[in-house]
Amino acid sequence: MTADPLRLFFALDPPGRVRAAAAKLQRRLALNARPVPLENFHVTLAFLGELPAACLPDLRGIAGEASFSAGVLRLDRIGWFPRAGVAWLGPDTIPGGLQDFQAALMARLRGGGFRLERRRWAPHLTLYRKLRTPPVTIDFNAITWPVKGFCLMQSTPGDAGPVYRTLARW
Ligand code: 2AM
Repeated sequence: MTADPLRLFFALDPPGRVRAAAAKLQRRLALNARPVPLENFHVTLAFLGELPAACLPDLRGIAGEASFSAGVLRLDRIGWFPRAGVAWLGPDTIPGGLQDFQAALMARLRGGGFRLERRRWAPHLTLYRKLRTPPVTIDFNAITWPVKGFCLMQSTPGDAGPVYRTLARW
């Protein structure tokens, strides 16, 4: 019998202060859509999809060898992906070091035989899902997030939406 595959992704995991500030902004937006719970806030670096657990050592190896470059993410923009129906909080400008790190991580993963999407990285922290109309625009103070590391996450479907679990941190 083969074990069920795991739905995996690499992500940036916001510290409590950033989560709280993003949740406050989420409440202020009060969109007619499904709010993402604060504990699920994250910024995806690389979405891996469903993989067998046997891939975990390779993923840990690749991530452990990637040289992480710290940077400050300035979350100053609210946007939406109409097709996906999500409203998000993100940076207007991506710090060069983080951009390079994300590209290097993707390249290493591809080198290791992992299949990844070709789309350009658009760092975003999803605030709402199932949004059908563009979000309202509001003025807000940028949330600054000194990014100190990254993690490997597992997503499991739950009754109230996905449950994320951190499998490893670097
Ligand atoms: P999202 O927040 O914009 O929905 C776990 O599913 C995470 O991986 C989510 O943050 C999701 O982004 C991101 N992701 C990227 N590509 C994905 C895909 N093809 N399917 C599901 N999630 C994807």
